Amino acid sequence: DGPTRRTMRSTGSLLVDNIGELVTNSTGGAGGPLGLRRDAALLVEDGLVAWVGPATDAPAADRRIDAEGAAVLPGFVDSHAHLVFAGDRAAEFAARMAGEPYTGGGIRTTVGATRAASDDELRATVRRLRGEAMRQGTTTIEIKSGYGLTVADEARSLRIAAEFTGDTTFLGAHVVPAEYADRPDDYVGMVCGPMLAAAAPYARWIDVFCERGAFDADHARAILACGQAVGLGVRLHANQLGPGPGVRLGVELGAASVDHCTHLSDADVDALAGSETVATLLPGAEFSTRSPYPDARRLLDAGVKVALATDCNPGSSYTSSMPFCIALAVREMRMTPAEAVWAATAGGAAALRRDDVGVLRPGARADLMILDAPSHLHLAYRPGVPLIRQVLHNGVPQ
Ligand code: NIG
Ligand code: FE
Repeated sequence: DGPTRRTMRSTGSLLVDNIGELVTNSTGGAGGPLGLRRDAALLVEDGLVAWVGPATDAPAADRRIDAEGAAVLPGFVDSHAHLVFAGDRAAEFAARMAGEPYTGGGIRTTVGATRAASDDELRATVRRLRGEAMRQGTTTIEIKSGYGLTVADEARSLRIAAEFTGDTTFLGAHVVPAEYADRPDDYVGMVCGPMLAAAAPYARWIDVFCERGAFDADHARAILACGQAVGLGVRLHANQLGPGPGVRLGVELGAASVDHCTHLSDADVDALAGSETVATLLPGAEFSTRSPYPDARRLLDAGVKVALATDCNPGSSYTSSMPFCIALAVREMRMTPAEAVWAATAGGAAALRRDDVGVLRPGARADLMILDAPSHLHLAYRPGVPLIRQVLHNGVPQ
């Protein structure tokens, strides 16, 4: 901070100048929960934020981007996405819009298509969706397996996912595949044994779809414990389609995040409120399955840390757009725009236990977006409009 920096000059430095509203998410009281700064500038060096301060004190730099008074935010952290798959389920979506319920049964359709696809086909899909997300401001993304459900197909799903992110998640326990339908215990044993062994080298996290019709609490606990034993962090699909034990199980196991949280009891909310576990809400799934949205206000008012993510997948939520999720959270879930923007950035970072992203302060990654708008409010105020003017990832314009 301050005038000494003005004289410093390092090779490759980049100044983002003339920022009308800077969302820092940096705690310290000033600027509210988003740590807003007006008329700011930000210096990038070596892919990291090197300095943040008033535009009038901006240091010299090798290159300069003029934000022209627009808002600048940390890049979105999408902490829940299923990008490794083949095919789509547009017909299933159309049937839902005509009144069919969502059951998760279509997952097996995608499993069939994914097993039949080549590595290059899967890689091309991940690349396409990762590109879509980046253009909409997502600089950090978690990517799950879960459409292979054989040892080889789960391992290759994670190997491909790891080409795109460090936040890879082993979801071998997505559903019991058809060939194990009459012996689910054997499938759980396989997930904990050879499948985990093949997947773990490529995975940071382990996840289970804990839901009626997928895995019950005993199976989920066993699988997550096996993952923890080999050093994977725990996250969980919980309480999406109905009430159940998933949220409390996640808290019990010290999960970084329990995701969906659509059907919560008071005991679930209390458990979350007394924990470090983030509640990750995925309103794209409720939109696309025409279901009631999770009660974000109840969670926030109880003091639960909330994240927003896309759940991007070909079945329940085929969107890669964090701005769309923010707009839904504000309009349909009564989150304030500031709460929704925090949840889509710092909240996602908390859900991935990352302190280097979701925040713009010296030392953090220079992952940020410049909006075509003067304020973060516009993300919800102008739904469906491409407001992301420019994205920097590790300090590099995309
Ligand atoms: O998070 N709920 C489980 N998994 C995904 C849906 C997967 C699918 O329908 O293909 C979800 O909504
Ligand atoms: Fe999901």
